[in-house]
Amino acid sequence: MNVQAYDLRDDDRRPPVDDLTGIVQRGLRLKPKRLPSWLFYDERGSRLFETICEQPEYYLTRCEVALMARHAADMADVLGEEVRLVEYGSGNAVKTRMLLQHLHAPVAYVPVEISPEPLRRCMRDLAEHFPGLTVQPHLGDFTRPLRLPIPPRASRRTVVYFPGSTIGNFETREAAELLRKMRNEMGDGGGILIGADLKKDAATIEAAYNDRAGVTAEFTLNMLVRLNREIGSDFDLGAFRHRAHYNTMAGRIETFLVSTREQRVRVGRLQVPFGMEEAMQVEYSCKYSHEDFDALAGKAGLEVARAWTDPEAMFAVYYLVRAGSLRH
Ligand code: AVI
Repeated sequence: MNVQAYDLRDDDRRPPVDDLTGIVQRGLRLKPKRLPSWLFYDERGSRLFETICEQPEYYLTRCEVALMARHAADMADVLGEEVRLVEYGSGNAVKTRMLLQHLHAPVAYVPVEISPEPLRRCMRDLAEHFPGLTVQPHLGDFTRPLRLPIPPRASRRTVVYFPGSTIGNFETREAAELLRKMRNEMGDGGGILIGADLKKDAATIEAAYNDRAGVTAEFTLNMLVRLNREIGSDFDLGAFRHRAHYNTMAGRIETFLVSTREQRVRVGRLQVPFGMEEAMQVEYSCKYSHEDFDALAGKAGLEVARAWTDPEAMFAVYYLVRAGSLRH
């Protein structure tokens, strides 16, 4: 593998403590209170998320991996030769490997990741499996403007790969904004290969976010562990619990940290009152029908060129291109 020289400094993407305190204070002043879901992913949170993916109830990863096993070769044919593959997040090496295995003479693989450790892990893994591949790791926040490395040679197209239904963690307006950003990144002839969790019966979806082993609950509560450690807040971990329920009308899992008693929490200089059973919103996980996804793509000036789903229609992988380009 040809890994381009890159200085991966530890933790240099973490927001400074003052910023983080400000972000949390702002969220806690909202009504209802609300904290951003990216706060889940410190080192422990990322490990807990990997454990969630192994839980029997969390069908998303299993279904997407099965989908890739069955269709990655076809996807690679659709993407064509000499692609530059840019992955937003370098989290799941398994799915990426399945795709890379079938790509025809890829020009480069560019994983974009906010924290250095997963990026290092990804590089180690790829070095082992794809000795001939040029990897250009990029440390950065994919929701912000990126300056991607210059490819080692001209590629026929840039394809942004965004697996895992992470798009579902963004509300519609933000999701469309992110897709629009990818659209700019991929250029005229490029595309986006993106995973999305599909709408299905509420019980199956709810079980995925309330696993019996309690890993998801631990993952949710870890947000408070992180805040206590990083900004010195004094959330009492025994006085909050995880709640995730499927809002059928909105088509999304809504996850909350619920205060189990009346209490005050100190965040910087702010004393934040919580009522008994007050719910603070920490994550949305949106689910889609094919029509929903068509509409979302349309909002970003994109259209679905191909869709792959499993026989039970649990999960989908879409290939998006610029709207109008299919007619040329
Ligand atoms: C990363 N993302 C797609 C996961 C999801 O299903 O929304 C995060 C997660 N939250 C709780 N369980 C998994």
